[in-house]
Amino acid sequence: MGKLDGKVAIVTGAGGGLGKEHALLLAKEGASVVVNDLGGARDGTGSGTSMADGVVEEIKAAGGSAVANYGSVTDDDAAAGMVKAALDNFGRIDILINNAGILRDRSFKNMTDAEWDAVIEVHLRGAYLATKHVWAQMLEQGEGGRIIMTSSTSGLIGNFGQTNYGAAKAGLAGFMRVLALEGMKYGITVNVLAPGALSRMTEDLMPESDETAERMDPAKVSPTVVWLCTPDAAKVTGRQFCVSGNRVSLLSWQVDTITEKDSMEGPWTVEEIGEAMENSIDSWPKLLKPMEV
Ligand code: NAI
Repeated sequence: MGKLDGKVAIVTGAGGGLGKEHALLLAKEGASVVVNDLGGARDGTGSGTSMADGVVEEIKAAGGSAVANYGSVTDDDAAAGMVKAALDNFGRIDILINNAGILRDRSFKNMTDAEWDAVIEVHLRGAYLATKHVWAQMLEQGEGGRIIMTSSTSGLIGNFGQTNYGAAKAGLAGFMRVLALEGMKYGITVNVLAPGALSRMTEDLMPESDETAERMDPAKVSPTVVWLCTPDAAKVTGRQFCVSGNRVSLLSWQVDTITEKDSMEGPWTVEEIGEAMENSIDSWPKLLKPMEV
């Protein structure tokens, strides 16, 4: 018996890296999986069928159930096609893992409009489109659901040279926070994953060694994702999980009041605000670096 027997999942960008591991583990736990992947290069150029096909073969060889889908998450019809593939092959949809992604890193002063747009398009609009079609189907089924947005510490904390990527990833966290509230009455949970793993996307950002390959194996991220998709996680929504190697962390919010006066009094002066800032600035939480989470 798997924890997801009878469930149906879509994983976008599941032809390699993290998405592939999520798809394999979802299938191992009994879910039928639509393995979506455009099959292009790391920067989003090109396309092909072999990446998605390879993962489907692997799932089937292990006794699981899966179907390939080659659409781009940036295309509305293709996003609708992913849900159609789930319904045609498996009759329903319970789980969406928004995982597809590309990189076009550049320091902001050198970034082109095309680099900005391509990254926002795949990560933010891509997750929006897939979620839009899945959401409608989940509401029609009336049995709840599970949605994961793959964000990044780049967006939640900050990372040099990734303004486009960070903006898209922070956008996904905002999308999640609002959708989680809207999903509560339908039993649909929506959570954020900020992963850390060695993949095609990060291979030139991490040291090349067997030790890194072992420590940052993308398969180490998937158990948290799969658990969030089980009935056991019905109450977990609106949360941000950082999962890097074998460390699982919750990234939560803290509100620090700097100064306050009665709301019926007039506004602060600029000088008063400046004084309050100077008096408290040394006690503010320090800015984190992505690797610290
Ligand atoms: P990856 O490059 O191995 O996987 C991304 C997959 O998305 C690829 O298989 C690619 O073909 C697919 N894809 C790209 N554009 C697509 C499109 N338009 N439609 C459908 N599929 C498309 O990289 P990785 O590391 O597995 O990344 C997975 C997700 O995790 C991404 O959203 C990435 O931004 C995020 N992430 C990864 C981190 C890491 O340490 N590996 C850190 C933070 C976030």
